[in-house]
Amino acid sequence: MKFLRLLLILFVLPTFAQQGGMWIPSLLKGMNETEMKNLGMKITAEDIYSANKSSLKDAVPQFNGGCTAEMISSKGLLLTNHHCGFDAIQNQSSLEHDYLTNGFWAYKMDEELPNKDLYVTFIVRIEDVTTKVLEGVASIASEAEKQKKIQENIATLSKTLPKESWQENQIRTFYDGNQYLLFVVENFKDVRLVGAPPSSIGKFGSDTDNWVWPRHTGDFSLFRVYADKNGRPAEYSKDNIPYTPKHFFPISIKGIQENDFTMVMGYPGRTQEYLPSYAVDQIMTTIDPARIEIRNHALKVQDGFMRKDNAIKIQYAAKYASTANYWKKWIGEVKGLKKSNALGAKQKFEKEFTDKIAKAGKQAEYGNLLADFKTNYEAITPYALAREYATEIFLRNSNMDLLNFGYKLYQLEQVYNTKGEQAFNDRKTNLVNAFEGFYKEFNPTVDKAIFEQVINLYVTKSPKQFLPNSLNNINSSELASDIYKNTKLTSYEGLKELMNGDAKSVIEKINQDKGYILAKSIAEAYEKNVLPKFNELNLKNIASQRTYMKAIMELSPKSARIFPDANSTLRVTYGKVKGYKPSDAVTYSSMTYLDGVMEKYVPGDYEFDVPKKLIELYNNKDYGQYADKNGKVPVAFIATNHTTGGNSGSPALDANGNLIGCNFDRVWEGTMSDIYYSPEICRNIMVDARYILFIIDKYAGAKNIIDELKIVKQTPTKKK
Ligand code: ARG
Ligand code: ASP
Repeated sequence: MKFLRLLLILFVLPTFAQQGGMWIPSLLKGMNETEMKNLGMKITAEDIYSANKSSLKDAVPQFNGGCTAEMISSKGLLLTNHHCGFDAIQNQSSLEHDYLTNGFWAYKMDEELPNKDLYVTFIVRIEDVTTKVLEGVASIASEAEKQKKIQENIATLSKTLPKESWQENQIRTFYDGNQYLLFVVENFKDVRLVGAPPSSIGKFGSDTDNWVWPRHTGDFSLFRVYADKNGRPAEYSKDNIPYTPKHFFPISIKGIQENDFTMVMGYPGRTQEYLPSYAVDQIMTTIDPARIEIRNHALKVQDGFMRKDNAIKIQYAAKYASTANYWKKWIGEVKGLKKSNALGAKQKFEKEFTDKIAKAGKQAEYGNLLADFKTNYEAITPYALAREYATEIFLRNSNMDLLNFGYKLYQLEQVYNTKGEQAFNDRKTNLVNAFEGFYKEFNPTVDKAIFEQVINLYVTKSPKQFLPNSLNNINSSELASDIYKNTKLTSYEGLKELMNGDAKSVIEKINQDKGYILAKSIAEAYEKNVLPKFNELNLKNIASQRTYMKAIMELSPKSARIFPDANSTLRVTYGKVKGYKPSDAVTYSSMTYLDGVMEKYVPGDYEFDVPKKLIELYNNKDYGQYADKNGKVPVAFIATNHTTGGNSGSPALDANGNLIGCNFDRVWEGTMSDIYYSPEICRNIMVDARYILFIIDKYAGAKNIIDELKIVKQTPTKKK
C-alpha cells in the first residue's frame, strides 16, 4: 500500500505540482526539462534554446519594445496581436483608408506598408555576467553607492563585451540583483504591415470583454521583417529584402484538447512574486484601491461625454481604453488576491522561512529581514500612497491632462535651472511637437469635469500632511472654473503662445499662468514632501528584497525551482490547456467558437458588431480546413501558462514546438498572477491558430500569405 502511495505521488505529483513560473530559456535544461516532458513536451530544452544551432528562441523577437511576436515563414513574416500592432495600423489609417475599421491586407509584397519607428529585437545569445557586474560592489557600504557602481559597471560592460557592430549588448538583473545576464541582440527597423483584420474581429468585444473569459477576439496582425542584402538589420530601404529567420514556426491545425501540453515564449514585463506579506497587504488594501477609485471617477466622466458626443468618443477612445485596461486589471487583481488568500499563503511561507533560518543557523544574516520589511512597509505606506496619487493625477497623462501638461512645463523649467538655455530650447522644441498630439486627444470641457472630481479626491484622500498650501480648503468646482477659465493650457494655440520667446520670457509667462502655478505648487510639494523620503525608504526595501531573494533561494530545497520575476527578457512558461471554476457553481471550458461570436453579435454596436463577410462565412459554413472535428471554428482557448503584460503576441506552442495560437490576455479572476500565481484560477488567453488562418484565408482571401506558411495537418511522426 505504502509503496503504491509513493508510486502515485511520484507519478502524479510532477504533473500537478506545476505552480506557474517564467523560466530563462538558456537554463531550462537543468531546471525544467524533466517537468516539461512529464507534462507532455516532445522536444528538448536544446531545441528551445541553443547557443550553437538554430532553436525556437530565434523565432521569437520582442515587438517594438513592449509586446512579443513570432516568425511564421522563411520570408520574414511575423505574427503578433492586433492590439500590439494597433498604433502602426492607426498611423497607416486615414479617412480614405480606414484600416482600423476595415482591416488591411497586402496581396503582394510591394503592397506592404513601412512603419516609421517600428522595430523588432531578436536575441542572438544569453550569457551570465554576474561576477563582472558585481565587481567592486561588495565592499561598498551605502546602498545608493552600490547601485551607482552597478550602473557604472553595466554601462562599461555593455560597451566592451564582444559583439558584432550591428548588434547591441543588453544587461538585465534577475532575482532582484542576485544575478545578471547579458543579452546580445539585433534590432530590425524595417518592419512592414502585411495584414490586419478589421477591429470588429481584431478588437471584438473591446473593453467590455477585455480581461474576460469566454473571449471571442481575433487579436492578431501580420508584419514582415526586412533586412539588408546581408540579412542584417537596416533602416528602411526599398532595396531591403525579407529577413530569413534562423527559425520559424510551423502552424498546426490538428486541434488541441483539454490537458494538452502548451508552452508560451515571450517577453513578460514585470511581476512581483516574492514580495513579503506586508507589501502584498499594501497593494491590496492601499495602493490598488486608490488607483481604482481615481480611475473610477475619470472613466465615468469620460464615458458620460463619449456616449453623448461622437466626436469626443473618437477623441477619447485610445485614452479611455488605456485607462480602463489597468483599472479593470487592478479590480481583478484585488479580488483574486483575496479569493486565493494570497496574504495567508505569504504569511505561512514567512513562518516556515523563519524556521528555516533558525535551523540553518542564519539568524545573523537573515534574522532581521522580515522585521525590517514590516517596519519599512509601515513607514513607507503614506509616501507610497501619496506617490500613487501623484502618478495618477499629474505624473502620467492617463486620467486628466491639465496638471500633467503643467507638470511637463515644470520639468522644462527645471531643465533651464539645472542645464541652461540650450538644453531648455531642445526640450522645448520636442515638447511643443509632442503637445500637438496631446491636444488632439484633449477636450477642455471633459478635462475640467475630470479635474473637479479628481482634485477633490486628491485633497481628501491623499495624505494631507504632504499637500501644498494651494490646495488648502479649496472648493473643487470653484477651483476648476477659475483655473480652466484663466489658463492658456487648455488649447494648443495657448500653449504655443506660452512657449513663444527665449527661455527667460517663457518662464516668466508660464509663471503667470494660473494652471501652471497650480501644477507647479503641487509638483513642488510632491518633490519636497514625498519623493525624498519615499526614495530613502524604497532603497531600503530594494536592499532587503535582494537579501530576501538570496535567502529564499539558499534556504529552499533544490526541487523548489525558483523562477526570477519578469523583467522584459525572454522567458518560457508552460502548462496545459485547462478550463477553470471562477466561482461557486460556475465552470468555464477551455475553448470558444465562432458560434460564440455570433451569440455576442450586436448589429452596429461599437464593441460587438460583426463584419458582413464573416456572417456569410458562418451562415454558409464555409470554413475550409479550419474547422474542428465537430465542424466548428475555434476562436480562442485558455491554458495554465504563467504570463503577464508584454506576453501579448507570444507564440503558444504545442508539444512539438508547432504554433497553435497567439497569446493576448489573461482571465480576470487570475490577474493577481503578477503577485501570486494560483493554478486554480490563473489562465492565459490565446487566439487559436485556426481562427487566424481562417480569417487570413477565408475572410481576407489572402492566399499569398497562406502559401508562405508551413501548415501542419497530421500528427508529425517525429522519431526520437
Ligand atoms: N488586457 C490586455 C492587455 O493587457 C489587452 C489590452 C488591449 N485591449 C483593450 N481592449 N484595451 O494588454
Ligand atoms: N494583454 C497583455 C499584454 O498586452 C497580456 C497580459 O497582461 O496578460 O501584454
